[in-house]
Amino acid sequence: MSHAPSFPIAVIIVSDRAARGARADQTFPRLAELLEKSGLARPAAPRVVPDEREQIAAAIREASARAALVLTSGGTGIAPRDVTPEATRDVIARELPGLSEAMRAASRRNTAFADLSRAVAGVCGAALVVNLPGSPRGACECLEAVLPVLGHAVDLLRGTVADCQAEASRHARDAEPEGE
Ligand code: MTE
Repeated sequence: MSHAPSFPIAVIIVSDRAARGARADQTFPRLAELLEKSGLARPAAPRVVPDEREQIAAAIREASARAALVLTSGGTGIAPRDVTPEATRDVIARELPGLSEAMRAASRRNTAFADLSRAVAGVCGAALVVNLPGSPRGACECLEAVLPVLGHAVDLLRGTVADCQAEASRHARDAEPEGE
């Protein structure tokens, strides 16, 4: 990996119950552990917001001003109050469907419920925003599916990539099993 792996990461937990203190959030610690284990920065303490479109959109906008990567967790499904994808689309200028497609494709190997997540990804200001499901397992499985491309995506948004194809070739070599 040739890019600088350390960039600021913000996490937003979207949950009515966690926001009113009725349930302790268990997803953030697992996401933080996975990010650190992958060599990325440990995110600061998460912002916890209820399933309210305007509050979610405002939290994403604020986080995008200080972080290069903004992860949201929860509210991506089809329950009556699930509005995270709508709130995300309110604030992103460009959508990155490939990331959400990759997350659902990887998740299908683990659960038939994968397609019940309407998670989206896109660009808000100079930050990459990625929706993840709310369960600790779902959030981690989806994050793992896109981890290999996050560094390059952040570099592209920062405008620091001189040769995209060279980066892609280097990445392909890094991903090859030992001895090949
Ligand atoms: N994806 C993975 N990898 N693992 C999971 O356990 N849960 C699914 C889906 N995606 C799941 C997953 C379920 S049950 C739902 S309802 C949707 O994510 C939406 O979850 P959310 O509303 O908590 O965001």
